[in-house]
Parts: sequence; C-alpha cells; structure tokens
Amino acid sequence: MDYTIALTGATGFIGSMVARQLVTAGFKIQALTRATSDRSRLSGISVHWVEGALEDVDSLRRLVNGVDAVVHCAGAVRGATRDHFKRIYVDGVARLVHAAAEQHPLPRFLFISSLAARQPDVSLYAASKRQAEAVIVENADGMPWVVLRPPAVYGPGEREMLPLIRWMARGIAFVFGSGNTRFSMLYVDDLVEAIRKWLLDENCPCRVFELHDGHPGGYSWKDVIDTVGRLNAKRVRCLHVPVSAVTGLAKLNLFAARMFRYEPMLTPYKIRELKHPDWVCDNTALTQATGWTPEVPLEEGLRRTLALS
Ligand SMILES: NC(=O)c1ccc[n+]([C@@H]2O[C@H](COP(=O)([O-])OP(=O)(O)OC[C@H]3O[C@@H](n4cnc5c(N)ncnc54)[C@H](OP(=O)(O)O)[C@@H]3O)[C@@H](O)[C@H]2O)c1
Repeated sequence: MDYTIALTGATGFIGSMVARQLVTAGFKIQALTRATSDRSRLSGISVHWVEGALEDVDSLRRLVNGVDAVVHCAGAVRGATRDHFKRIYVDGVARLVHAAAEQHPLPRFLFISSLAARQPDVSLYAASKRQAEAVIVENADGMPWVVLRPPAVYGPGEREMLPLIRWMARGIAFVFGSGNTRFSMLYVDDLVEAIRKWLLDENCPCRVFELHDGHPGGYSWKDVIDTVGRLNAKRVRCLHVPVSAVTGLAKLNLFAARMFRYEPMLTPYKIRELKHPDWVCDNTALTQATGWTPEVPLEEGLRRTLALS
C-alpha cells in the first residue's frame, strides 16, 4: 500500500502500538523522535525516524513532508503547571497543524485528545486538550481532520494504570474515596483499529468523536476489581484510601514538583479528574461514521495486559 503517515508519540505507549500495527497493515510510517527518546518499543519495526520535537518547527516540516496523513499521539499526562501542558498540547498542536497545512496536497490530520477534554474545568490537562482541539478546528485551513477522545486506554506497556491492576492481580485493590465514579475504558488495539478505519475512510466528517470498549454505562472500580479477581481466581481485598489523605499528598507533591522541577502524576488536578463522577462515553457517532466497532471486552483486555506486561 502506498500510504505514508507522519506519527508523533511513536516511542510512547499508544503511539508505539499505532506504529507497530499500522506497519503490519501495510502503511509506511515516518515518526518523530527526540534525541532522548527510547525507541526500544519499536525495535525490529520498519519506521523512518525524524529527529526533532514538537518545539522544533523544522523537524515538524520534515516529518509531514509528502505524507498522506498525520497521526498526532505525542503528549504527557504528568505535569505541574499550566505552561507545561500549554507548551505540549496547545503550542505543539498549533506548530504541527501549521506545518501540515503548508503541504500540497494537504494531508489528513488525526489528533488523539482525551475524554478529559469534555470537562476542561476539571484539570490543567483537560483544559489544554480542549484548547488543542480548538486550535485544530480554527487552523485546519481546508485540511480534513478528526479528533478522537479516548477514555482510559490500557494494554501491555501502559504505565499509569498498570501498577494498580498488578496490585489487584496480587489480591489488593486501592480504591480512591467511595469508588462510586463511573468510567469507560478502551483496550489499546481497539483504539489503533479506530485510527486505521479512519485512515481508510476519506469520507469521515471532520468532528470530535468519543470511543470506548462498547460496554454501555462504563465501569465502577468494583467492576474492574471483580474482573481481575475472576481472571486470577483470587479474592481481591479493597483498601479504601480517603480522599482527604490523597489530596494532602497531592498538594505536597505539587509543591515539591514546582520546587525541584519534575513532572508529577499525583496533583490536586489529578484528584479532581479521579473524583469526577462521570467519565462514561458513547461510540455511536464514530461507529456510524466509520463502521468501527470495538472487539476487546474488559476481561479479555485485562487477560492480555496481565499476561504480556
Ligand atoms: N494512556 C491513556 O490512557 C490515554 C487516554 C486518553 C488520551 N491519551 C492521550 O494519548 C496520547 C499518548 O498517550 P500515551 O499514554 O501513549 O503517552 P506516553 O506513553 O507518555 O507517550 C508520550 C509520547 O509523546 C512524546 N512526547 C512528549 N512530549 C514531546 C515533545 N515535546 N516532542 C515530541 N514528542 C513528545 C513522548 O516522547 P519521548 O519518548 O521522547 O518521551 C512519547 O513518545 C497523549 O496525548 C495522551 O494524552 C492517553
């Protein structure tokens, strides 16, 4: 197949799966990589690497030169300041969209946003994702675009949720607060398949789509814990962690991160994301537009994740 994709974030969890599976499906990939990136997730996979960064306009121009589509997966969930998230998402997207919109013919443009963008008031991460989406809409300049808003994406190699799932597999679940929030989930292969479907469907409308694993109404933490317990045939003990205790830790961590200049995961903003009662999403529009349907239910996804990680 003569179809070349410019990919950002290829050294990360989602981007590496995108690269691996799209190369297998016959696409050519040219991928952005930083001098400091660890490319080992893609060893043995045929990728044309373009050295640079979202901050380096020349590298972005080289990345998108002559491609049929841009898939923008680079990002960060950790961070302490509004500036940090703005630099990665808002400024990064703006530079990439402008570089792509200079091309003749115009490539198509796909941005991996997040379900968090639905609630921009909840966190700095959510706000920056929402702003980045707006930058695409305002600057696409005739370039066909789509924004995907995945919920929690999991699979082998994921780093933020996997430690919690591993503890569940050992028989201990840490439950934040009452554990009454509901959230959708998505196995990484299903996200990649949604991207592949969009790449092959020139008629997909330019819009924002939510996507999840097809389980209506999402999950509670108890659903996830029970599923891991069933898979391991083991009783899982729940340790309820009080919101006040974690909020105190998060405040300390944010203070330390700003002082010692590291990018923290646990911050008061992350707590607000975790406390938000409804991160359930809906596939209807994406399925109608592209024919994509998810294939991997939670139990199978967790089985693969625990076996392969
Ligand atoms: N994982 C989830 O559950 C989830 C859910 C919804 C949405 N998302 C979104 O999906 C995207 C990918 O997430 P992920 O879990 O795959 O993250 P990840 O594993 O942390 O990977 C992030 C990728 O972005 C690259 N990157 C970061 N800053 C960059 C910069 N300034 N210039 C160039 N590359 C840069 C990283 O490069 P290095 O290797 O050099 O660090 C890495 O390749 C993010 O935008 C995230 O918000 C993730």
